Amino acid sequence: MEPTQVAIIGSGLIGRSWAMVFASRGFKVKLYDIAQQQLTTALENIRKQMKELEESGFLKGTLSAEKQLSFISVYTDLKAAVEGAAFIQECTPENLELKKKIFSQLDLIVDDYVILSSSTSCLLPSKLFTGLKHVKQCIVSHPVNPPYFVPLVEIVPHPETSPSVTERTYGLMRMIGQSPVRLNREIEGFVLNRLQYAVISEAWRLVGEGVISPTDLDIVMTDGLGMRYAFIGPLETMHLNAEGISNYCERYREGMKLVLNTFGPVPEFSGETEQKISQAMSRKVPAVPKHLDARREWRDECLTLLAKLKKQMKSN
Ligand code: NAI
Repeated sequence: MEPTQVAIIGSGLIGRSWAMVFASRGFKVKLYDIAQQQLTTALENIRKQMKELEESGFLKGTLSAEKQLSFISVYTDLKAAVEGAAFIQECTPENLELKKKIFSQLDLIVDDYVILSSSTSCLLPSKLFTGLKHVKQCIVSHPVNPPYFVPLVEIVPHPETSPSVTERTYGLMRMIGQSPVRLNREIEGFVLNRLQYAVISEAWRLVGEGVISPTDLDIVMTDGLGMRYAFIGPLETMHLNAEGISNYCERYREGMKLVLNTFGPVPEFSGETEQKISQAMSRKVPAVPKHLDARREWRDECLTLLAKLKKQMKSN
């Protein structure tokens, strides 16, 4: 049987990672970009990453790196790239006008079955897809960087997206080993960024008000809350921290409301607090490519090992 084909539009950071995820499960991946040089760099980078992962025993799937690489081909012709694809994942820069242009180009050349999916971090489906002839086939599949190591995908339908497209996208994400969640309706920031921004804004306020230093603030997460959040979410945490949710609410609802009522306004994310946080973070990891890249590599190693532990804990 011919392997299922997918097309990835845009071969930057996220496009490459999606390509690797799909290839790891034996999908034929057609990677499209406007610039040949970008594609050449992307392929070199994918090869390097796959070989390193293979050497360290962390390559996904059961196929060799060489075999997985053979599934990826590159295109600068959009029509040729999407020909025969059952699923198209758009990964171009976060710019509404650019993305709308790409989806209207795709709208003219795709059939009535293919799924048109966007990696957008914050553009709402109603902004991206309204007016397209194939709007029923359009959906957002928002990954977390880097999708190869962090499996969550937020699936956000347009109000007109056909429920079967949502289901097929969900099923496909499961099939390639990602961890999809469905949003029942679109909302600014989707869910991941709403949670992330809630944490960031309180962190900013606490540092800005001089309650805690930037480095200690991060430790509260890495050695405190974050330890359990990789395994149980905030709602299950409540459930386990008392004799169930109702008991937790009974015990802590007044305390929670008291604390929450002391939260300040949305920060400006600029000025003195920005300087303070920037200096502290730069002392730890200088904000230059060499140091940032080394730290990112370390982060990815940690995430790989965590993924292994999570898998082991699931099968226990
Ligand atoms: P990137 O800048 O690394 O890559 C964008 C790619 O698109 C480049 O290869 C560029 O040559 C290509 N491109 C530009 N115009 C194009 C066109 N007209 N047709 C085809 N390709 C074109 O961007 P990145 O970080 O990979 O982000 C892609 C998308 O993924 C964005 O929507 C972003 O919001 C989303 N995303 C990014 C995350 C991140 O942490 N970087 C996390 C989750 C989603």
